[in-house]
Formats: sequence, C-alpha cells, structure tokens
Amino acid sequence: MIRMSDTFYITTPIYYVNSHPHIGHAYTTIVTDVLTRYMKLFGADTYFLTGTDEHGQKIAESAAKSGVEPQEFVDQISQEFREMWPHLHIEHDQFIRTTDFEHKNCVQQILQKIYDQGEIYLKEYEGLYCIGCERFLDEAELEDGNCPDHQNPPELYKENNYFFRMSAYQDWLLKELKHNEKWVYPGRYRNELIQLLKEPLQDLCISRPKSRLKWGIELPFDENFVTYVWFDALLNYASALGWPDGENYNKYWQHVHHTIGKDILKTHGIYWPCMLKAAGMPVFKKLVVHGHWIVEGSKMSKSLGNVVDPLAMKDQLGVDALRYFLLRDMSFGEDSNFTEELAVTRYNGDLANNFGNLLNRSISMSRKNFHGCVPPLGKAEDLEKELHNSFVEGVQKCKEHIIAFQPHRALEHVASLSSQVNKFIDTCKPWALAKEEKDRERLGTVLYTALDMARILVGLLDPVMPKKMCEARVSLGLDEGVIRFDDLTPGLLESGIELPKPTPLFPKMRVPSLEVNPIKNHIEKTLNNSNAEETEWLGIDDFQKMELKVGRIKSCRKVEKSEKLLCSEVDLGEACSRSIVSGAAEFYTPEEMTDRHVLVVANLKPVKLMGHLSEGMILFSDDNGKLVLIDVPEQVNPGVIVR
Ligand code: ME8
Ligand code: MG
Repeated sequence: MIRMSDTFYITTPIYYVNSHPHIGHAYTTIVTDVLTRYMKLFGADTYFLTGTDEHGQKIAESAAKSGVEPQEFVDQISQEFREMWPHLHIEHDQFIRTTDFEHKNCVQQILQKIYDQGEIYLKEYEGLYCIGCERFLDEAELEDGNCPDHQNPPELYKENNYFFRMSAYQDWLLKELKHNEKWVYPGRYRNELIQLLKEPLQDLCISRPKSRLKWGIELPFDENFVTYVWFDALLNYASALGWPDGENYNKYWQHVHHTIGKDILKTHGIYWPCMLKAAGMPVFKKLVVHGHWIVEGSKMSKSLGNVVDPLAMKDQLGVDALRYFLLRDMSFGEDSNFTEELAVTRYNGDLANNFGNLLNRSISMSRKNFHGCVPPLGKAEDLEKELHNSFVEGVQKCKEHIIAFQPHRALEHVASLSSQVNKFIDTCKPWALAKEEKDRERLGTVLYTALDMARILVGLLDPVMPKKMCEARVSLGLDEGVIRFDDLTPGLLESGIELPKPTPLFPKMRVPSLEVNPIKNHIEKTLNNSNAEETEWLGIDDFQKMELKVGRIKSCRKVEKSEKLLCSEVDLGEACSRSIVSGAAEFYTPEEMTDRHVLVVANLKPVKLMGHLSEGMILFSDDNGKLVLIDVPEQVNPGVIVR
C-alpha cells in the first residue's frame, strides 16, 4: 500500500505570458487542483501554487510586437490567467508572478549566495538558442536543424555570460536519480533523465547581457546583465513560500511536488535539482510529469497556434464535465488526442448514460414509491453484500490510484463502480418489484442501496466535479457541506430524508458532427485511396431492400419457460396481424407493450423461437444491454412505410 504524507505542497509550472491560456495550461492546472482536492479529502494539509512566468526574451519580443511596454503587457496577460482559473473551478492557494518584488529579491539572494560560493563564473560562449524554449539546445537535440518542439531554427549567440557550475553536480544527480526510483513519475521520464546524464553535463548559462535583453532580474553582482529566465522562474516554487525562513516555507517546502508537462522535463529534472543543491536547499520530493494534448497530430502550443480555448470548451461541455474528460481521457504521463467528439462521447458514455442515469433513476423510483423520500433499508441479500464489498474495496483503490498520480485510473474505477450499480438495478428490476405489495421491503432495500452507492460515488467524484457533485448532494437530500472520506462507506445514507425532484445533472449531448465527420472522412479516404480498407457500406439499394413499417401491438404475452421472450400480435395494416417474438421481457411487461405504436422490420425471414413463430422484428434501442422501445407517435397508422 502506498503511503501518503499528511502535508502536501503541489505546484504547476508558471506559464509564460507571451500569449493566452489554452487547454494544455488548463489541463495541468486542473490536474493539480484535482489532486489537491483529493489530498484534502484524504485529510492532508495542502498548499497549491500556480502563477505566471513573466521575464525573458520571448515575452519581451511579444510585448514589442504588441507595441506596449513589457510591464503593461505582462500585467494584462497574467491577469487573464488569474481570471481564467476560477472559471474552471480551480482553487489555488497562491498565484505568483515572477515580477513580484519578493520573488525578484529571492532570486537575487540565491544568485549572490551561489556566486559567493564561487560557483558562478564569466566566460565567452557560443551556442544555439531557441527562444520558444528559452534555452540553448545541443546539436543532438535538433531535427533537420530545427527545435523539435517549436519547429524553428535556433539562433546562434556568441557573447560574454555568467555560468553556473552545473557540471559539478552531474555525479550527484545521477546517483540520486538511480537511487530514488520514485523521484520522477512516471518512471520512463526518470529513465530519460538518466539517459541525458550519460552525456557530460554542461555548465548552465544564467545571464543575458542587457545590451541584448533588458527585461529580467538584474544580476546582484553585475548590473550589465539580467538573470536567465529559467534560473529566475524555477525559484518561484520556493520564493512563493517565503524562502529562506517564511512560515509556509518551513511548513511546506519539504513536501513539494511539481506537476509539469514533459516539454519542460530537462529544466525541472536537471537544472532545478542542481540549483537547489547549490543553494543548500532540500530538493523536491517528487516530479510528476504528464504528456501532451495533441491536436490534429501536433502538440497544442501557443507557438504553433493550434490551440483550444478552455472557455469555449467549457461553454460547450460545462466546466465540470470538461474537467472530467481531461482527467479521464489522458492516461497520466502519455500523450492524448483532443477532439470535441472524444469529449462529448466520454460525456455521454460516463456521465449521461452511466452515472447520471444511475442518479436519475434511483431518485425518481424512490420518490415515486416512497412518498418522495429515501426508502428504508430491509434485509440485505447477496447482491447488496457483493456491491458493498466492491465499494469498500473500490473507495480504497481510488485513493491508491490518486496517491500514485493516476487520476485516469481512479476515474475509470469510479465509472466501473457506477456501472455495477446500474447492473444491480437492472438485475433487481425495481420497476417490477413496485408492482407487488409483497415485494415492498425488497424494493426499499434495492432503491436504498442504489441511492447509498450513488452517494459514495458523488463523494469520489467531488474533487473532479465540485459544482455538479454539490448539486448531486442536494438531489440526494444531503447537505452541501464538506465531505468526509470516512463517510464514503455503505450504509450511512439516512432513510426517510426528503428527495427533491431531480433535474438531470448530465443531459445527453449530441456528438458534434459525428453524423457528418467520420463518414465524410471515410468517404474521402475511400475516394482518395483505391486500396482503402474494406468497409461494410450499404448502397441505397441495399437499404431499400429492407421493409420498415409502423406496427401497433394489439396484444402481448410472455413466452412460457423463457425469461427473456415476449410474443406480440402486431397489426401492420395487413389482412391478418403478425406474431412477433422479441427479447424484451426483462424490460417490459406484456401490459406495457400493448397498444404501443412501434417500428417493425416487416420482411425478415420468419423463424421459430422457442416454438413460437416470429414474422418480423420490433425495433428497440440497445443502451448497454437495456432495451428501450422506439415509439412511433400514435397518429401514425399501422402499415405506414418508414424510409
Ligand atoms: O514552459 N498539453 O511555460 P509554458 C499538455 N514558463 N500540457 C500543456 C500543453 C499541451 N499541449 N501545452 C502546454 C513554460 N502545457 C515555463 C514554465 S516553470 C518554472 C516555467 C502545459 O507557458 C504543461 O504543463 O510554455 C507545460 O509544461 C506547460 O503548460 C508549459 O507552459
Ligand atoms: Mg511552452
């Protein structure tokens, strides 16, 4: 079992303010928010830092392009980031800017300290600089002469600069990385760092001559230079807490976790620990690295201009559902594709059909049958006991996944718990129990159990979807107060409390352009490629071979000795009615079928099922095994053709 510390300090990268926030920034900040909320739920004392990185050449150039002074420029964009986060339900404890006075002061003090130790020296240097990355690249990092991330050639600089003796820390760092398996997560990023350290580590250029760049923190020991932006930026994590002796620094520093995207692995996994070691500060506890959101084949990035605006996405999906999608769809550490279709498909699958449906139906059936209240719990049978066990285990599993920084696995587990409750409902068929007075106690037990499990799921999902889960608690008749982790155990829902009329939390959404896009893509593929993979396309002639008609079910009965089959007499506007067998007995009683106007495939070859002739097929929608009749409005007469 993974152990968790009671104090938890977590940071996001501080984002460059050269341009507006996008889904990539939103993702890191949301993950960090979600992890913080979970840690709080598990009882930790947490501190969550985010902010903006405001110095350096890239920002100076962006300001110049917009024709405003750097300070005014960074004020504006930093404000955009700061205002974005509450819209995404992000609750950070602090927002730091590298232009804050306290931060600049801290950077200068640490530089002076390392300089006084003799670990900073001046030399002439020639190197290839990528402004997008804000660092010198090694020849080996280039692809066709370009920076692989920014797809631009770096610039050649030859100038006098100050250097930090990073090379002196190579052996130490390599040993730390090899020794401490858990230091960098997921492990493959640790391997990447170890790989990088197989080459000699160069000293780090930590200055820029003011003749080239004025926008930065002046070196305390030479007024002709400003500090290199990464040396400045990384220190934010400590300056924010009031290094060297602030109360927060003393309390939280030793528990620091950095969440970053893999694009900034080298700066965080190599520069940063060497800087900390030189400054005599404890190194971070863990570096947590995620992959990139990919849009149409490339990393989404400001520099490439293929960005998705988090606010637009939020308007479409709702904030909480957006948070859910981002966390659930990205396997932490790996790259993931971002499309609207994927987001809506996930929403419909997990939230509308699975969890939302569970809430709606358990609340509606309880209200209908128990005077608008949570039913009493009768004797638990094996099915309930099984579900209880799964939940007790499942709640712990989720906690373990979160502590292991695998939020996608935690959410996958929650979705599977939710499916289990839906299956439990399908198996117990409360709608059938409701018909017989003698089954009333059983009905109460089944519905109580469904509601109680839904309550636990709400608790587990709260860190991801705080607003929606607050609404869910209200609809379960619970108060909106703080959720206690210890309460996420079966049996604690109070019978008899009132259940307000539910409004669907996650109404189903239309998948954007799904009707058009995949087909369009497919057609294009087929047209462009004569060897296109085999597809089962139907020509219109094929489709017209099928005779679809409206039918009215005149009567219906159960097929003897069968759990599943119903046999209906269906009027298709013909001289005689037809006999049609369907596998819907688990979902409909014969009475519920009778008199319905339905869709029928009229020219299926007749077959015999359990001794009954079936002369056609009644159409149902199949929602994960749950059959729902496709109703045709009553004014449409039997026999009318459907096409
Ligand atoms: O690098 N997918 O800032 P930055 C996922 N200022 N995450 C993404 C992403 C994508 N497509 N694009 C960006 C900087 N991110 C420095 C950091 S820290 C001391 C200084 C996220 O504005 C991800 O977290 O370029 C990535 O590491 C970060 O934004 C880079 O933001
Ligand atoms: Mg970047």
